[in-house]
Amino acid sequence: SSATLTELDARYHFACDVAKTAASRALSWYQQRHQLVIEHKKDLQDVVSEADRNVEQLVKHLIRERFPDDAVLGEESGGDTAGARFIWVIDPIDGTSNFLNGLHNWCVSLAIVCENEPVIGVVCDPNHHETFHACRGKGAWVNEKRIQAHSAQQLNQGVLGISSSNSQPVEPLTTFIGGLLSQGGMFIRNGSGALMSAWAAAGRLIGYYEAHMNPWDGLPGIVLMREAGGMTNDYLGHNGLQQGNPVLLANTVLYPQLKALLPAHISL
Ligand code: IPD
Ligand code: CA
Ligand code: CA
Ligand code: CA
Repeated sequence: SSATLTELDARYHFACDVAKTAASRALSWYQQRHQLVIEHKKDLQDVVSEADRNVEQLVKHLIRERFPDDAVLGEESGGDTAGARFIWVIDPIDGTSNFLNGLHNWCVSLAIVCENEPVIGVVCDPNHHETFHACRGKGAWVNEKRIQAHSAQQLNQGVLGISSSNSQPVEPLTTFIGGLLSQGGMFIRNGSGALMSAWAAAGRLIGYYEAHMNPWDGLPGIVLMREAGGMTNDYLGHNGLQQGNPVLLANTVLYPQLKALLPAHISL
C-alpha cells in the first residue's frame, strides 16, 4: 500500500532538517573552497571534491540513524535500494562546478521515493536562505511561503530553465532551443539543475527541460512541480531510478507546447 500520512510526515520534517544541516556544512566548505583539491570524473567539466563526499556521508549518517530501514542512494557513493520501502535519493552538492568556482548557484538536493512514487522533494540553497520543499498532497513551498507554477500561456511570456552536460548528445537540445527561440522564447542555464527546477516550481521560470537527469537531480523538481500545480513527465517510468530520464516541467498549458518542440523520436 502507498505511504501513510504518518510515515510521510515524519520523513518530510526530517528531510527538511537534514537538507538544511547538510547545506550549512556545504556552506562552510564553500567558504574554504580555495583549499579543496579539484578532481575530475568523466571529463574535464565533470568535477568533484572532498566537500561533495563529506556532505554525502553526513547526510547518509543522519538518515540511517533516524530511519535505519530506509535505503539511501547518493551521487558520490551509490547505495543499495533493493527491497526498501522508502528510498532517499540525495545529491550533497548540485552545481559542483559553480561551487568550486565561487558561483552562488548550488544546492543540496534530496528526494524520497516510496513504491516507485516520488513523494517528497527538498532543495536547499544556503546562499540565498531558501529551502524549497514539497510532500505529496501538501503543496509546494519556499521556506514558509506557498509557491505555484508560472501562469504563462505562451512560450514568449517568460524564461525557461534548460540544462545540459557534456556527457549528453548535442541533440535533442539544439532542436529544442531552436524551436523555443523561434517562438520568441528565452532560456537560462544556472549550473544547478535541481535548483532551476525548484525555481520553475516557484513560478520564477516558465518551466524546465533537461534531456537526461540523474534521479538525485531530477526527483525533487518532479515533486515540487506537481505540488505547485504543474505537469511533469513520468520520470520514474522506464527504470528512471536506475538510469535517469529526461525531465520536462511546466504548467498544464505550456507543457504540451514544450513537448512539441522535441524531435519526433524523443519520447517522454
Ligand atoms: C549537474 C548539474 C547541472 C546539470 C548536470 C548535472 P552536479 O550536477 O545539475 O546543472 O546540467 O547534468 O550533472 O554534478 O553539479 O551535481
Ligand atoms: Ca557531479
Ligand atoms: Ca547533480
Ligand atoms: Ca552533485
